[in-house]
Amino acid sequence: MKTIDIISATPELLISPFSGSIMKRAIEKEIVQVNFHDLKDYSNKKRKQIDDYQYGGGSGMVLMIEPIDNCISHLKKDKDYSEIIFMTPDAEKLTQKLSNKLSIAGNLIILCGHYKGVDQRVRDNLITMELSIGDYVLSGGELPAAVLCDSIIRLIPGVLNNETSALEDSFQDNSIAPPVYTRPASYKNMDVPEVLISGDSKKIDQWREGKSDEKTKLLNN
Ligand code: ADE
Repeated sequence: MKTIDIISATPELLISPFSGSIMKRAIEKEIVQVNFHDLKDYSNKKRKQIDDYQYGGGSGMVLMIEPIDNCISHLKKDKDYSEIIFMTPDAEKLTQKLSNKLSIAGNLIILCGHYKGVDQRVRDNLITMELSIGDYVLSGGELPAAVLCDSIIRLIPGVLNNETSALEDSFQDNSIAPPVYTRPASYKNMDVPEVLISGDSKKIDQWREGKSDEKTKLLNN
């Protein structure tokens, strides 16, 4: 079973994304194991200190290397890991291609940053990869870690059934999925495209392909 170990200074922020829908089901089906690790539990200092002022001055606390090293070393004693990923906005951006790759990789450690960041020696020596979920700054790496996990876990074989297959997702073949509709066929003068009700599967396929191309072109411009 694939294991994802998430290291965080505020692990309580991680709970809800894993408590419903696809990720919860994948965990219950024992297709993936997700563990949260509180950095404070790996501090050797009084009062479980995990961050400190930065050398050279400047505002904001920086996560110290020692508790992070303690936690990663502890995890590595039990398991081998394919990647140790640090979530940070100043990194390569997550793509569907990367999610596919990570979904078939082995166990993962995800380190969530916070405040002003982590001691650079962590980034230089303890991790194997850095990922951003977009060009905007969040308060910590916890929500990005949950986003990364969701995008990976739904791709692991056995997580989605045929009906919800990830193969037809937008981005999976570099194209955007066509629009979808459900009942009623007409609502307050807003009608479902007639072709979808026609029963002509060839025409429906053509229509979907055309719409998918249209949306893909729009997004790439
Ligand atoms: N931490 C804070 N903002 C982030 C982002 N955009 N991506 C990844 N980690 C982050």
